[in-house]
Amino acid sequence: MRSLTALQVMQDAPVIPVIVLDHVQDAVPLARALVAGGLRMLEITLRTPQALACIEAIAREVPQAVPGAGTVRNSADVQAAQQAGACFLVSPGYTSTLGQAARTYGLPLLPGVATGSEIMTALDDGHTVLKFFPALAAGGTALLKAWSGPFADVRFCPTGGISPQNARDFLALPNVTCVGGSWLTPAQAIAERNWDVITRLAAQAVQLRA
Ligand code: 3PG
Repeated sequence: MRSLTALQVMQDAPVIPVIVLDHVQDAVPLARALVAGGLRMLEITLRTPQALACIEAIAREVPQAVPGAGTVRNSADVQAAQQAGACFLVSPGYTSTLGQAARTYGLPLLPGVATGSEIMTALDDGHTVLKFFPALAAGGTALLKAWSGPFADVRFCPTGGISPQNARDFLALPNVTCVGGSWLTPAQAIAERNWDVITRLAAQAVQLRA
């Protein structure tokens, strides 16, 4: 996946699952469950002590999955994610330092933005494919419609508050390529190791744009 671009990450499926993992032994079965449902691009958030080990396990043992690191906030995160085997990066905000680190380590980055100024900073650095976070809290579909004028060339992955109920509204917008969300990997299903539920949720998510 060396030449993977941020646009390819977003175009692979209608939804990028946002994953929080507390136990490394859950990483491989969870990734397999999502792949079985039709999702390959998997965002594992760097929010738990085990996140990097989880990325490493998925990269090693689930060749059909494309593990990425989420909640990437600084250069050290970028380096750690790359060393763990992450194929892409997702950040909750954007700094040029982060963009530079992503380039240095050769990984596509979906930078998080919530304002016009942040979009312009990301554009200045060559990013035209962005995560819109926190999507619902920051203005939802109304803000995306407003941005389609001045930022017609930008494509977004709204994340934060997206659900099976509102995902179609976002996906219907011409400047939305995919959405991100944690609803595919409920904490309870992971705790119960109920992988079938997760495969079902993934398969339903794939159908969102059908
Ligand atoms: C996050 O980074 O937590 C994502 O935005 C997930 O948000 P969600 O839990 O509302 O899907």
